[in-house]
Amino acid sequence: MSAAKRVLIAGASGYLGRYAVSEFSKRGYRIRALVRNPEKIKTAGPHGEPAIYDLVDEIVIGDVTDPATIEGVCNGVDIVFSALGLTAPDPKLTSYDVDHLGNGRILEQAIGQKVSRFIYVSVFNQDKMPEIPTIKAHERFVADLKASGLSWAVIRPNGYFSDMGRFFSMARSGHLFMVGEGEKKINPIHGADLAVVCADAADGECREIPVGGPDIYTFRAVMEMAFHACGKSPWITSMPMWLAEGSLMVTGLFNRNLADLLSFAVEALKFDHVAPAYGSHHLKDFFAGLASAGKHD
Ligand SMILES: NC(=O)c1ccc[n+]([C@@H]2O[C@H](COP(=O)([O-])OP(=O)(O)OC[C@H]3O[C@@H](n4cnc5c(N)ncnc54)[C@H](OP(=O)(O)O)[C@@H]3O)[C@@H](O)[C@H]2O)c1
Repeated sequence: MSAAKRVLIAGASGYLGRYAVSEFSKRGYRIRALVRNPEKIKTAGPHGEPAIYDLVDEIVIGDVTDPATIEGVCNGVDIVFSALGLTAPDPKLTSYDVDHLGNGRILEQAIGQKVSRFIYVSVFNQDKMPEIPTIKAHERFVADLKASGLSWAVIRPNGYFSDMGRFFSMARSGHLFMVGEGEKKINPIHGADLAVVCADAADGECREIPVGGPDIYTFRAVMEMAFHACGKSPWITSMPMWLAEGSLMVTGLFNRNLADLLSFAVEALKFDHVAPAYGSHHLKDFFAGLASAGKHD
């Protein structure tokens, strides 16, 4: 009997990372998790993503912006999966520092170890938003990965249920601001469904995989559903796009990092984000789960 394959999961404590640990573990892989804080993975995450401490075989405690802490992180692994990225504003770090340079440090080691596959999670519709800092950082890494000589797969999801959970949190507070009219469409995906696509990408030719979930909604419909899930009448105030962009410019004068991350959220509302459909989890059930668990950020 051949030995189980070993996978490094970077970003294992995040929304997608936890589901990826769970999925690779179900498929019999030995899991090495790269985390900054092992305590975090002992409990479930804020959107119902699982506690994974007991599923991992090995933990590396490290921060990709501090190279010494991740030295040897790829030693002995067959596959690297990275859902590691900057998704919340940080006073000191930018997407470039984390998504590009941070993942780049893992890639260097993966090349040195000649891993058999590197699976990276970027974003969908990247070509429509090339100047947005988060997209630029992801895509610089993707270019490095493609040039690395390793076998690769790039996952391009449109939006996670956890992201839609932000609308739920705002709806729960009773009021929601929307940029534009909310008429653009998206088919967001649950982390568990996306993790199946990610693990399936461990084999086969080098490829990019755009991914969405089973149901298509307008952003307005998602917001209204969030209100209904918490038993409230929708109260949504629409902010014109020009005003949101003006506010971003002002924000950028005193907090560049915050403005850069928010620019993604604003820009994304200008397009439909309908990607090939995968999975079986429905957003309505996800919101119902958040409502009954009383979980919101
Ligand atoms: N959310 C979406 O709708 C969406 C859509 C398309 C693509 N994506 C991309 O998918 C990826 C995963 O998203 P997610 O929503 O699962 O994000 P998440 O929940 O914020 O998870 C991000 C992970 O990266 C880790 N991380 C961040 N900075 C780090 C550092 N300096 N050193 C080590 N680890 C670090 C975090 O660790 P801590 O737990 O310690 O913070 C966490 O494990 C991101 O790259 C994101 O851009 C997200």
